[in-house]
Amino acid sequence: MKMHIDAETISCGLIAHPSRHSLSPLLQNTISSELGVNMVYTAHDVVPSAGEASNLSLMNAVKGAEALGYRGLNITVPYKTEVIKCLKELDELAERAGAVNTLVRLKSKDGYKGYNTDISGLKRALDADKIEIKGKNAIVIGAGGASRAVCTMLAMNLASSVTILNRTLSKAQALAEAVKNSCGYDSISAHGLNEYMEAFDPEKKYICFQTTTVGMYPDNFSSPIEDEAFFGMLEAAVDVIYNPMKTLFMSKAQSRGVRTA
Ligand code: ATR
Repeated sequence: MKMHIDAETISCGLIAHPSRHSLSPLLQNTISSELGVNMVYTAHDVVPSAGEASNLSLMNAVKGAEALGYRGLNITVPYKTEVIKCLKELDELAERAGAVNTLVRLKSKDGYKGYNTDISGLKRALDADKIEIKGKNAIVIGAGGASRAVCTMLAMNLASSVTILNRTLSKAQALAEAVKNSCGYDSISAHGLNEYMEAFDPEKKYICFQTTTVGMYPDNFSSPIEDEAFFGMLEAAVDVIYNPMKTLFMSKAQSRGVRTA
């Protein structure tokens, strides 16, 4: 990749914690170089502030990027929901999802508008892998920002049911309520991460979405659920983690003959 940086170079970047796993700089810089766009994209590890003002460092980072003239930003773990407080405008789909992964500088140059491309991107990836959603029963592991995007995508594409499993039950319950309200979708329920056997009908097969950070580089040898019997209930398993390409969760599903994406 040959890059030319000068005084005209547009700055864009990623805000995350941690950020070292990210392939976004490689992806974005390669594309802009191929397209001849004078842009540089860098990854920023924004460490959450301690104590109650946990989003102070995020606010400072977004304000700092604005002051430095950053044209656009991507936002990922753990800030997809918190970042909404830092925005001037919010796209309708992102509002419904309660999560933002893309910030675009407003034409007025004053602040950013937040978008969610996770939902459309995920649906496109599922279509490419021929994984149907309509009329299917789904399990979503995790209840953070990525999970909310997945649950919104499932509700909007008329999944028959959505069951959220999360380590912290109260967060799963709050997410189920939020999706009910934002999407007018009632077939959604919440359970603790270890309550999966009670939550499922042994006669049915499920599509499972793994949305936690468990198994993400450098934590490659972990899976939020390891029980073989769980994978036996699945017809497809989707992991939103892309580094590593094949997570332990996916390997476990594959060893039970389950399709993965
Ligand atoms: P994102 O915005 O990418 O979804 P997040 O909001 O930080 O990230 O959410 C992370 C998810 O991973 C949460 O569901 C979290 O569970 P809790 O709600 O109980 O915190 C889940 N998670 C993180 N570490 C986990 C672990 N070791 N075991 C199980 N779940 C974990």
